[in-house]
Amino acid sequence: MNLLSDTFVLNNGSGIPCIGFGTWQTPDGQTAVNSVKYAIEAGYRHIDTAAIYGNEKGVGQGIRESGIDRRELFITTKLWNTDRGYETALKAFDTSLKNLGVDYIDLYLIHWPDNHSNGAKVNADTWRAFEKLYKEGAIKAIGVSNFLEHHLRTLLDSAEIVPAIDQIEFHPGQMQPETVLFCKSNGIFVQAWSPLGTGRMLNNPELTKIAQKYGKSVAQLCIRWALQNNVLPLPKSVTPSRIKENANVFDFEISDADMQTINSMPYFGGSGLNPDTIMF
Ligand code: A2P
Repeated sequence: MNLLSDTFVLNNGSGIPCIGFGTWQTPDGQTAVNSVKYAIEAGYRHIDTAAIYGNEKGVGQGIRESGIDRRELFITTKLWNTDRGYETALKAFDTSLKNLGVDYIDLYLIHWPDNHSNGAKVNADTWRAFEKLYKEGAIKAIGVSNFLEHHLRTLLDSAEIVPAIDQIEFHPGQMQPETVLFCKSNGIFVQAWSPLGTGRMLNNPELTKIAQKYGKSVAQLCIRWALQNNVLPLPKSVTPSRIKENANVFDFEISDADMQTINSMPYFGGSGLNPDTIMF
Protein backbone atom coordinates (compact mmCIF):
# COMPACT_ATOMS: atom_id res chain seq x y z
CA MET A 1 0.00 0.00 0.00
CA ASN A 2 1.41 3.39 -1.00
CA LEU A 3 -1.64 5.61 -1.31
CA LEU A 4 -4.97 6.11 0.45
CA SER A 5 -6.69 5.00 -2.75
CA ASP A 6 -4.79 1.68 -2.90
CA THR A 7 -7.18 -1.16 -2.20
CA PHE A 8 -7.54 -4.41 -0.34
CA VAL A 9 -9.68 -6.94 -2.21
CA LEU A 10 -12.85 -8.29 -0.60
CA ASN A 11 -14.26 -11.81 -0.97
CA ASN A 12 -16.63 -10.64 -3.74
CA GLY A 13 -13.77 -9.15 -5.78
CA SER A 14 -14.45 -5.49 -4.96
CA GLY A 15 -11.62 -3.23 -3.92
CA ILE A 16 -11.75 -1.25 -0.70
CA PRO A 17 -9.46 1.79 -0.17
CA CYS A 18 -6.95 0.85 2.51
CA ILE A 19 -7.65 3.54 5.12
CA GLY A 20 -11.18 4.70 5.88
CA PHE A 21 -12.08 8.08 7.30
CA GLY A 22 -13.96 7.48 10.57
CA THR A 23 -16.83 9.73 11.64
CA TRP A 24 -18.03 8.27 14.96
CA GLN A 25 -18.64 11.19 17.36
CA THR A 26 -18.36 13.71 14.52
CA PRO A 27 -21.28 16.09 15.00
CA ASP A 28 -23.66 16.53 12.07
CA GLY A 29 -23.82 19.87 10.28
CA GLN A 30 -20.85 21.98 9.34
CA THR A 31 -18.33 19.89 11.32
CA ALA A 32 -19.25 16.73 9.41
CA VAL A 33 -19.40 18.58 6.07
CA ASN A 34 -16.02 20.27 6.55
CA SER A 35 -14.13 17.28 7.92
CA VAL A 36 -15.36 14.98 5.13
CA LYS A 37 -14.53 17.58 2.50
CA TYR A 38 -11.11 18.07 4.00
CA ALA A 39 -10.47 14.33 4.18
CA ILE A 40 -11.38 13.86 0.51
CA GLU A 41 -9.14 16.78 -0.41
CA ALA A 42 -6.34 15.11 1.58
CA GLY A 43 -6.78 11.96 -0.52
CA TYR A 44 -9.11 9.73 1.53
CA ARG A 45 -11.45 7.80 -0.74
CA HIS A 46 -13.23 5.71 1.89
CA ILE A 47 -15.68 7.26 4.37
CA ASP A 48 -17.22 5.32 7.24
CA THR A 49 -20.43 6.45 8.92
CA ALA A 50 -23.49 4.85 10.55
CA ALA A 51 -27.16 5.68 11.01
CA ILE A 52 -26.65 5.99 14.78
CA TYR A 53 -23.87 8.54 14.38
CA GLY A 54 -26.59 10.98 13.31
CA ASN A 55 -24.29 12.58 10.74
CA GLU A 56 -25.21 10.86 7.46
CA LYS A 57 -26.68 14.13 6.12
CA GLY A 58 -23.52 16.13 6.83
CA VAL A 59 -21.31 13.33 5.53
CA GLY A 60 -23.37 13.20 2.32
CA GLN A 61 -23.17 16.96 1.91
CA GLY A 62 -19.39 16.87 2.42
CA ILE A 63 -19.13 14.21 -0.26
CA ARG A 64 -21.18 16.27 -2.73
CA GLU A 65 -19.30 19.47 -1.97
CA SER A 66 -15.95 17.73 -2.45
CA GLY A 67 -16.57 17.67 -6.18
CA ILE A 68 -15.14 14.15 -6.46
CA ASP A 69 -17.12 11.72 -8.59
CA ARG A 70 -19.18 9.60 -6.19
CA ARG A 71 -18.01 6.46 -8.03
CA GLU A 72 -14.46 7.18 -6.91
CA LEU A 73 -15.53 7.01 -3.28
CA PHE A 74 -16.19 4.05 -1.05
CA ILE A 75 -19.02 4.82 1.39
CA THR A 76 -19.92 2.64 4.36
CA THR A 77 -22.92 3.00 6.62
CA LYS A 78 -24.47 0.73 9.26
CA LEU A 79 -27.88 -0.50 10.29
CA TRP A 80 -28.74 0.52 13.83
CA ASN A 81 -29.93 -2.05 16.37
CA THR A 82 -33.53 -0.80 16.59
CA ASP A 83 -33.92 -1.51 12.86
CA ARG A 84 -32.93 -5.17 12.94
CA GLY A 85 -35.25 -7.60 11.11
CA TYR A 86 -36.15 -8.06 7.45
CA GLU A 87 -38.69 -5.32 6.63
CA THR A 88 -37.25 -2.84 9.12
CA ALA A 89 -33.76 -3.26 7.68
CA LEU A 90 -35.02 -2.58 4.15
CA LYS A 91 -36.70 0.61 5.36
CA ALA A 92 -33.69 1.75 7.38
CA PHE A 93 -31.48 1.25 4.33
CA ASP A 94 -33.72 3.58 2.31
CA THR A 95 -33.49 6.20 5.02
CA SER A 96 -29.69 6.00 5.03
CA LEU A 97 -29.62 6.36 1.23
CA LYS A 98 -31.82 9.46 1.48
CA ASN A 99 -29.81 10.98 4.33
CA LEU A 100 -26.55 10.45 2.48
CA GLY A 101 -28.11 11.60 -0.80
CA VAL A 102 -26.66 8.69 -2.78
CA ASP A 103 -28.26 5.95 -4.85
CA TYR A 104 -26.08 3.06 -3.70
CA ILE A 105 -23.87 2.19 -0.73
CA ASP A 106 -20.48 0.53 -1.12
CA LEU A 107 -20.63 -1.33 2.18
CA TYR A 108 -23.57 -1.82 4.55
CA LEU A 109 -22.94 -3.38 7.97
CA ILE A 110 -25.11 -4.83 10.74
CA HIS A 111 -23.82 -2.56 13.51
CA TRP A 112 -24.06 -5.01 16.46
CA PRO A 113 -25.20 -8.62 16.78
CA ASP A 114 -28.53 -9.20 18.53
CA ASN A 115 -27.97 -11.06 21.82
CA HIS A 116 -31.57 -11.48 22.94
CA SER A 117 -33.02 -14.99 23.21
CA ASN A 118 -34.29 -14.83 19.59
CA GLY A 119 -31.13 -13.00 18.45
CA ALA A 120 -29.92 -15.68 16.05
CA LYS A 121 -33.19 -15.49 14.10
CA VAL A 122 -33.20 -11.70 14.10
CA ASN A 123 -29.59 -11.58 12.83
CA ALA A 124 -30.49 -14.11 10.10
CA ASP A 125 -33.59 -12.13 9.04
CA THR A 126 -31.58 -8.92 8.93
CA TRP A 127 -28.94 -10.65 6.83
CA ARG A 128 -31.61 -11.83 4.32
CA ALA A 129 -32.55 -8.19 3.78
CA PHE A 130 -28.88 -7.35 3.22
CA GLU A 131 -28.57 -10.20 0.72
CA LYS A 132 -31.63 -8.96 -1.17
CA LEU A 133 -30.25 -5.39 -1.40
CA TYR A 134 -26.87 -6.75 -2.45
CA LYS A 135 -28.39 -8.86 -5.22
CA GLU A 136 -30.34 -5.84 -6.45
CA GLY A 137 -27.10 -3.84 -6.69
CA ALA A 138 -28.12 -1.25 -4.10
CA ILE A 139 -25.14 -2.30 -1.96
CA LYS A 140 -21.78 -3.32 -3.42
CA ALA A 141 -20.64 -5.34 -0.38
CA ILE A 142 -22.36 -6.48 2.81
CA GLY A 143 -20.91 -7.21 6.19
CA VAL A 144 -21.22 -7.08 9.94
CA SER A 145 -19.68 -5.23 12.83
CA ASN A 146 -18.82 -6.37 16.33
CA PHE A 147 -19.61 -10.01 15.52
CA LEU A 148 -17.57 -12.51 17.54
CA GLU A 149 -16.70 -15.94 16.20
CA HIS A 150 -19.87 -17.57 17.55
CA HIS A 151 -22.10 -14.83 16.08
CA LEU A 152 -20.42 -15.37 12.71
CA ARG A 153 -20.69 -19.15 12.89
CA THR A 154 -24.41 -18.92 13.64
CA LEU A 155 -24.98 -16.39 10.86
CA LEU A 156 -23.08 -18.55 8.37
CA ASP A 157 -25.42 -21.48 9.12
CA SER A 158 -28.23 -19.71 7.26
CA ALA A 159 -26.36 -17.15 5.14
CA GLU A 160 -26.29 -17.47 1.38
CA ILE A 161 -23.56 -14.83 1.10
CA VAL A 162 -20.53 -14.81 3.40
CA PRO A 163 -20.03 -11.35 4.95
CA ALA A 164 -17.27 -9.41 3.20
CA ILE A 165 -16.27 -7.54 6.37
CA ASP A 166 -16.34 -7.72 10.14
CA GLN A 167 -15.63 -4.29 11.63
CA ILE A 168 -14.38 -4.70 15.19
CA GLU A 169 -12.62 -2.73 17.89
CA PHE A 170 -8.93 -3.20 17.11
CA HIS A 171 -5.95 -1.31 18.49
CA PRO A 172 -2.81 -2.13 20.48
CA GLY A 173 -3.81 -4.22 23.50
CA GLN A 174 -7.15 -5.13 21.91
CA MET A 175 -6.52 -7.38 18.90
CA GLN A 176 -9.42 -9.84 19.32
CA PRO A 177 -7.25 -12.71 18.01
CA GLU A 178 -9.98 -15.39 17.96
CA THR A 179 -12.34 -13.24 15.91
CA VAL A 180 -9.58 -12.13 13.54
CA LEU A 181 -8.37 -15.70 13.02
CA PHE A 182 -11.88 -16.92 12.28
CA CYS A 183 -12.45 -14.06 9.83
CA LYS A 184 -9.15 -14.64 8.06
CA SER A 185 -9.82 -18.34 7.64
CA ASN A 186 -13.29 -17.64 6.23
CA GLY A 187 -12.41 -14.87 3.77
CA ILE A 188 -13.95 -12.14 5.92
CA PHE A 189 -11.88 -8.96 5.89
CA VAL A 190 -11.36 -7.18 9.21
CA GLN A 191 -11.73 -3.45 9.75
CA ALA A 192 -10.54 -1.64 12.88
CA TRP A 193 -12.84 0.80 14.62
CA SER A 194 -11.12 3.09 17.13
CA PRO A 195 -7.65 2.29 15.74
CA LEU A 196 -6.32 4.95 18.14
CA GLY A 197 -8.41 3.55 21.01
CA THR A 198 -10.50 6.74 20.63
CA GLY A 199 -7.34 8.58 21.64
CA ARG A 200 -6.51 6.28 24.58
CA MET A 201 -3.43 4.84 22.85
CA LEU A 202 -1.76 8.14 22.21
CA ASN A 203 0.09 8.73 25.51
CA ASN A 204 1.30 5.18 26.01
CA PRO A 205 5.06 5.36 26.81
CA GLU A 206 5.95 2.13 24.96
CA LEU A 207 4.15 3.20 21.79
CA THR A 208 5.66 6.68 22.09
CA LYS A 209 9.15 5.21 22.24
CA ILE A 210 8.58 3.03 19.17
CA ALA A 211 6.93 5.87 17.21
CA GLN A 212 9.88 8.18 17.94
CA LYS A 213 12.28 5.66 16.37
CA TYR A 214 10.47 6.11 13.05
CA GLY A 215 10.02 9.88 13.44
CA LYS A 216 6.25 9.32 13.50
CA SER A 217 3.39 10.09 15.89
CA VAL A 218 1.73 7.36 17.95
CA ALA A 219 -1.42 7.86 15.84
CA GLN A 220 0.58 7.15 12.66
CA LEU A 221 2.20 4.14 14.33
CA CYS A 222 -1.20 2.66 15.29
CA ILE A 223 -2.58 3.17 11.77
CA ARG A 224 0.47 1.66 10.10
CA TRP A 225 0.45 -1.22 12.62
CA ALA A 226 -3.16 -2.08 11.70
CA LEU A 227 -2.27 -2.04 7.97
CA GLN A 228 0.75 -4.30 8.52
CA ASN A 229 -1.58 -6.71 10.33
CA ASN A 230 -3.79 -6.68 7.22
CA VAL A 231 -6.54 -4.93 9.11
CA LEU A 232 -8.14 -1.82 7.63
CA PRO A 233 -7.98 1.17 10.00
CA LEU A 234 -10.74 3.78 10.27
CA PRO A 235 -9.15 6.71 12.15
CA LYS A 236 -11.53 9.50 13.07
CA SER A 237 -10.65 13.17 13.33
CA VAL A 238 -12.33 16.49 12.80
CA THR A 239 -9.00 18.34 12.93
CA PRO A 240 -7.44 19.13 9.52
CA SER A 241 -3.81 18.71 10.68
CA ARG A 242 -4.62 15.30 12.20
CA ILE A 243 -6.67 14.18 9.19
CA LYS A 244 -3.56 14.84 7.10
CA GLU A 245 -1.19 13.32 9.64
CA ASN A 246 -3.23 10.10 9.81
CA ALA A 247 -2.92 9.69 6.05
CA ASN A 248 0.85 10.06 6.09
CA VAL A 249 1.74 6.48 6.92
CA PHE A 250 3.18 5.13 3.68
CA ASP A 251 6.78 6.30 4.05
CA PHE A 252 7.89 3.95 6.84
CA GLU A 253 7.66 0.29 7.73
CA ILE A 254 7.42 -1.09 11.26
CA SER A 255 10.06 -3.78 11.76
CA ASP A 256 9.03 -7.37 12.55
CA ALA A 257 10.45 -7.00 16.05
CA ASP A 258 8.43 -3.85 16.75
CA MET A 259 5.30 -5.45 15.24
CA GLN A 260 5.77 -8.32 17.68
CA THR A 261 6.28 -5.96 20.61
CA ILE A 262 3.05 -4.10 19.81
CA ASN A 263 1.17 -7.32 19.02
CA SER A 264 1.99 -8.68 22.45
CA MET A 265 1.02 -5.60 24.46
CA PRO A 266 -1.55 -6.43 27.13
CA TYR A 267 -4.90 -4.67 27.28
CA PHE A 268 -4.43 -1.12 28.51
CA GLY A 269 -7.66 0.58 27.57
CA GLY A 270 -10.49 0.49 25.11
CA SER A 271 -14.20 1.09 24.81
CA GLY A 272 -15.08 -1.64 27.32
CA LEU A 273 -17.97 -2.68 25.06
CA ASN A 274 -18.47 -6.44 24.85
CA PRO A 275 -20.55 -7.65 21.89
CA ASP A 276 -21.78 -10.56 24.03
CA THR A 277 -23.29 -8.42 26.73
CA ILE A 278 -24.42 -5.24 25.01
CA MET A 279 -28.18 -5.10 25.11
CA PHE A 280 -28.74 -1.87 23.19
P1 A2P B 1 -10.32 14.97 16.92
O1 A2P B 1 -11.44 14.34 16.14
O2 A2P B 1 -10.81 16.02 17.86
O3 A2P B 1 -9.19 15.43 16.05
P2 A2P B 1 -10.27 6.76 16.99
O4 A2P B 1 -10.06 6.92 15.53
O5 A2P B 1 -9.48 5.66 17.60
O6 A2P B 1 -11.73 6.67 17.36
O7 A2P B 1 -9.72 8.10 17.69
C1 A2P B 1 -10.35 9.33 17.49
C2 A2P B 1 -9.91 10.32 18.54
O8 A2P B 1 -8.50 10.56 18.43
C3 A2P B 1 -10.58 11.65 18.41
O9 A2P B 1 -10.74 12.18 19.70
C4 A2P B 1 -9.59 12.48 17.60
O10 A2P B 1 -9.70 13.85 17.92
C5 A2P B 1 -8.28 11.92 18.10
N1 A2P B 1 -7.23 11.93 17.06
C6 A2P B 1 -7.34 11.50 15.78
N2 A2P B 1 -6.18 11.60 15.13
C7 A2P B 1 -5.28 12.10 16.00
C8 A2P B 1 -3.92 12.44 15.91
N3 A2P B 1 -3.24 12.27 14.78
N4 A2P B 1 -3.31 12.95 17.03
C9 A2P B 1 -3.99 13.13 18.18
N5 A2P B 1 -5.30 12.82 18.32
C10 A2P B 1 -5.94 12.31 17.24
